[in-house]
Amino acid sequence: MHLQNYIPSILLVILVTYTTITTCAVVNPVVEPPMIKEINFEKNLEKNAKRLKLKNHKLAIGEMAMEPPVRKQGEPKYFQEPGVAAAGHYDGRYYIGFVTDEERQRTLTHLVRAWLQWTQSQGIETWLAHGTLLGWWWNNRILPWDTDLDVQVSEATLKSMAENMNMTTWTYNFEEDNFQRDYLLDINPYWTNRLRDPRCDKTRGYFL
Ligand SMILES: *[C@@H]1O[C@H](CO)[C@@H](O)[C@H](O)[C@H]1NC(C)=O
Repeated sequence: MHLQNYIPSILLVILVTYTTITTCAVVNPVVEPPMIKEINFEKNLEKNAKRLKLKNHKLAIGEMAMEPPVRKQGEPKYFQEPGVAAAGHYDGRYYIGFVTDEERQRTLTHLVRAWLQWTQSQGIETWLAHGTLLGWWWNNRILPWDTDLDVQVSEATLKSMAENMNMTTWTYNFEEDNFQRDYLLDINPYWTNRLRDPRCDKTRGYFL
């Protein structure tokens, strides 16, 4: 698998939250609305810390298509957009142009499946957020105009990911749609930074 396979990936944005959480499984498009259940994060964290010692992962660092863009000293901005209008949900490292609406929807549909498959396989708790959650609730679909997906994990999980799983890839294969990709987990080194500075990333990690 070469990194070209990430192109034209659209980003899955991982955000941090502190709220008590709902889990949902979205892989099957005809699932019932989610059960809301309380999760004991402390307990699960211990469990996950062991599991997070990498099952199915290979390092992808050496395969980067190009070096990450240079950041100004002291400026806490890690992810770089392509600098093209309306391309804010593409990653500057892999952007080669806009994809069609159809391709975008297909890409996003598989992206969320891959994310859920991967987190499930690793015993990681995650949940949908924002427009992604609304789309699933209303129609079991990604909102047709959406250009990204929003998911969240707890701060403790994100810490574990940053320490144990950064820059690992996950191979996803959906034969019925002849769709195969390698996905890369890229965690912002400034993920603990909560400043609301426009120069900072609001995003803590990408799955792309
Ligand atoms: C993840 O790996 C990239 C590439 O090596 C690095 O630039 C980044 O700082 C790492 N993130 C964390 C949270 O360590």
